[in-house]
Amino acid sequence: MYSTRSGEATTALRDVSLSLRAGEFVSLIGPSGCGKSTLLKIVAGLIDVTHGELVADGAELAPRNLGVVFQSPVMLPWRTVLRNVLLSADVLGLDRAEATERARRLLAAVGLDAVEQMYPTELSGGMQQRVAIARALLHDPAILLMDEPFGALDAITREDLNTRLQGLHTEQAKTVLFVTHNIDEAVFLSDRIVVMSGRPGRVVAEVPVDLPRPRSVRDKLSAEFRTIESLVRDKLEEGGHEPGAGVEPQAQASGQ
Ligand SMILES: Nc1ncnc2c1ncn2[C@@H]1O[C@H](COP(=O)(O)OP(=O)(O)O)[C@@H](O)[C@H]1O
Ligand SMILES: [Mg+2]
Repeated sequence: MYSTRSGEATTALRDVSLSLRAGEFVSLIGPSGCGKSTLLKIVAGLIDVTHGELVADGAELAPRNLGVVFQSPVMLPWRTVLRNVLLSADVLGLDRAEATERARRLLAAVGLDAVEQMYPTELSGGMQQRVAIARALLHDPAILLMDEPFGALDAITREDLNTRLQGLHTEQAKTVLFVTHNIDEAVFLSDRIVVMSGRPGRVVAEVPVDLPRPRSVRDKLSAEFRTIESLVRDKLEEGGHEPGAGVEPQAQASGQ
C-alpha cells in the first residue's frame, strides 16, 4: 500500500505470492503499473510490506546476499568503470585486492574488460547496463534482482545481453528474479514466468519454460518457443490487459 501525495492510499499489490527456488530464473511480466517494481523492491528490502510477510528459507534476504540492477544504470560519473563496479566493496568490507580481481573478471564476463579505465559518460547505454550487472555480482550474492534492465536497449543489444546473462546465471548458479515487459525475453531467459494482471497486481498465471539450456537466439524460431510465447500472451490478455496498452511499443515489436 502506498500513500500518494494527495493522501490517498494506493493498493499496488493484492494476493501476491511468489516463491523462488535456489538457482531458478523467474521472470515477472505484466502491464505497466501492476506492481512489478514494488514487488522487487519488497524482496530487496527497499520498502516494507503493509500486509503480508516475506520469508526466506535457505538464502537470507540480507544486502550481502542480494544484487540489484535497475532499469537505468546508476553510475557515479567521476569514477572509472572499474571503480563503479567496486562501489559496494568498501560498504560491504570486501578485501580490496580480491574485489578488484573479481571486478576485472566480471567485466570480462560482460565483454567490457577493455574499458575499465573509461568513465560512464564515454559508454553507451548497453555498456553502462553491463557495468551495472558486473557491479551487482561483485559480492557474489545468491540472488540477483533485475528490474527491466534491458528495457531501454535496442533489440540487438538486448539479445546480446540476454545471452550473456544466461551464461552468468548458469556459470554462477544464481537465483534470478527478473522483471520485464518483453515476452520473448522472458521465455528466452526463464525457468518460470509469473504473469501479473493490471492494478492492483495479482498473479494470474505461472508458466513453466522447460526448454533445454543453453538456449540460443535461433531457438526463438522453434515451435516449442513460440507455443510458450503465445501462452504467456494469452495469460496477459486474460489478466485484463489489452494488447498494445500498457506494454511498451519496443517490447511489442521485438516480441513478435
Ligand atoms: N512511491 C510511490 N508512491 C505512490 N504510489 C506508487 C509509488 N510507487 C509506485 N506507486 C504506484 O503503485 C503501482 C505499482 O507501481 P510499480 O510497482 O512501479 O509498477 P510496475 O513496475 O509494474 O510498472 C502504480 O500504480 C504506481 O503508480
Ligand atoms: Mg516498474
